[in-house]
Amino acid sequence: MKKILVTGSLGQIGSELVMKMRGIYGSENVIATDIKKPEDHVVVQSGPFEILDVTDAQKMHELASKYKADTIIHLAALLSATAEAKPLLAWNINMGGLVNALEVAKDLKCKFFTPSSIGAFGPSTPKDKTPQDTIQRPTTMYGVNKVSGELLCDYYYYKFGVDTRGVRFPGLISYVTPPGGGTTDYAVDIYYEALRSGKYTSYIAKGTYMDMMYMPDALNAIIDLMEADPSKLKHRNAFNVTAMSFEPEEIAAEIKKHIPSFKIDYDVDPVRQGIAESWPNSIDATAAIEEWGFKVEYDLEKMTIDMLAKLKEKGV
Ligand code: SER
Repeated sequence: MKKILVTGSLGQIGSELVMKMRGIYGSENVIATDIKKPEDHVVVQSGPFEILDVTDAQKMHELASKYKADTIIHLAALLSATAEAKPLLAWNINMGGLVNALEVAKDLKCKFFTPSSIGAFGPSTPKDKTPQDTIQRPTTMYGVNKVSGELLCDYYYYKFGVDTRGVRFPGLISYVTPPGGGTTDYAVDIYYEALRSGKYTSYIAKGTYMDMMYMPDALNAIIDLMEADPSKLKHRNAFNVTAMSFEPEEIAAEIKKHIPSFKIDYDVDPVRQGIAESWPNSIDATAAIEEWGFKVEYDLEKMTIDMLAKLKEKGV
């Protein structure tokens, strides 16, 4: 990776990945794009930045050519709850953006990364230690997009030789940019509310397990996979990755260790609860470990210490 074009660079993953990659590969070599350009944003100020709507295929091609990109990291997408509220828009952005980005990668011979998700699984998938290769019949538009995306990336590899790579991320937790419109977002909100008000009302029900990962581990996973020896990658576009699996009571108990008066209660949102119940409880990451050395540093305990400390530093 020498010249990297990133879409959705102001989003939850992009805003941190761009800064990390600028540190590794040089600021000028990471071209950040997003649909808007807030002048005071660190991503806009710290290196090249261009406005790009990912449904505009021509502009994406022009920008990748202009900067002589050799790698595309395609992150622009709607998350699960937003996609459920606006399914057609989700199809157009998530699939339209992806196929545009793959076409650019094909034409300009770029390496390619896009994230899949635990959302690519559905109610008929084995729920515990979900295997790498298993039943994928998701019941959400987001999941339909993610399975289609995995297959499309495989297709561009087999048919056109595009060096496509990807992981199935679990819920990502970070203190930098809040996520928007996801089902796993409660596990981010809970830390903010713990510090702000000492209590949190969860829209996900007690006892609902989902996989999660702290952002520093997610960023390392992207970079490690992109730098991995391609001859070792059997599951190019859909590696299961995970760091922890918990339910709301368990994250609340962990927060209580630091804020003893913290309280959780519940006001379950049927839409997001339904999505959560259709996803695995915990997934198996053996293929990622074996094929490119996937590893994580943070479990729930370590993540909670860091999240609370970093949010406090931010003045939350
Ligand atoms: N975090 C995402 C969501 O909840 C899952 O990929 O939509």
